[in-house]
Amino acid sequence: MRDVYDGTTVLVTGANRGVGAAFADALVELGAKKVYAAARDPETVRSRGVTPVRLDVTDRDQAAALAERLSDVTMVINNAGIHRRASLFDEGVVDVVDSVLRTNLVGTLTVSAAFAPRLVENGGGIIANMLSAGSWLAGPGNLAYAVSKAAALSLTNNMRAELGPRGVQVTAIHAGFIDTDMMAAFPGRKLSPREVAAHALSAIASGAQEVLIDDMSRAAKAASAEPVPPFAAA
Ligand SMILES: NC(=O)c1ccc[n+]([C@@H]2O[C@H](COP(=O)([O-])OP(=O)(O)OC[C@H]3O[C@@H](n4cnc5c(N)ncnc54)[C@H](OP(=O)(O)O)[C@@H]3O)[C@@H](O)[C@H]2O)c1
Repeated sequence: MRDVYDGTTVLVTGANRGVGAAFADALVELGAKKVYAAARDPETVRSRGVTPVRLDVTDRDQAAALAERLSDVTMVINNAGIHRRASLFDEGVVDVVDSVLRTNLVGTLTVSAAFAPRLVENGGGIIANMLSAGSWLAGPGNLAYAVSKAAALSLTNNMRAELGPRGVQVTAIHAGFIDTDMMAAFPGRKLSPREVAAHALSAIASGAQEVLIDDMSRAAKAASAEPVPPFAAA
């Protein structure tokens, strides 16, 4: 795996904490040529051996300027994301869904659209999108997040259709619960961010275009092929 990453210059979004910081640390350990750790506030980046850069993924001008400046990038990990509870019966549901989509879907598109021409110019590369078992799950309160990840999965598949023939591997990473700030309130068993990053980077290095990190994501994907259950009012 080291061989795949040692000549790679990587941009990781949301790299100041959680899964993004674990990706940045793992890439440094794997000998990546350069790791740009992007964060809304670069002063909060704690990883050693990285180059902190400022990026709010919802800011198109900032993403475009960064892609112009970081012309050596050959791999992008779209990791930045948010989770907000939202139910159809909440007064502010539309605003919540709008803001989650703006980060998880449009933010991923913004960064990918800014950097894809760079990757193609540099002879090809990799874009990996941090999705979720939630891409295939529906449940009360999970409306905003699930919609955003399902849409980001479609975005990923459509990006692959355009970028694959241009030499860019586009990989979707799906995982269940991970032990980060995002899931701090969830009391059950969680994956460590470190194991998620290691598993994902190993699969990406072997050319995988879809990574199902755990049983939860494998079960969620399998269940999506089941028929929709019949209507039954409670
Ligand atoms: N935790 C889980 O159970 C789980 C499971 C599956 C997938 N995921 C996905 O994994 C990714 C990372 O999540 P996490 O668990 O590490 O969450 P986290 O600990 O809450 O970290 C989220 C990261 O995203 C950044 N971010 C949020 N909005 C941003 C924006 N507009 N521009 C730039 N950065 C932004 C945050 O930066 P700030 O510090 O500035 O807020 C932070 O670095 C997300 O895409 C998430 O959906 C998480």
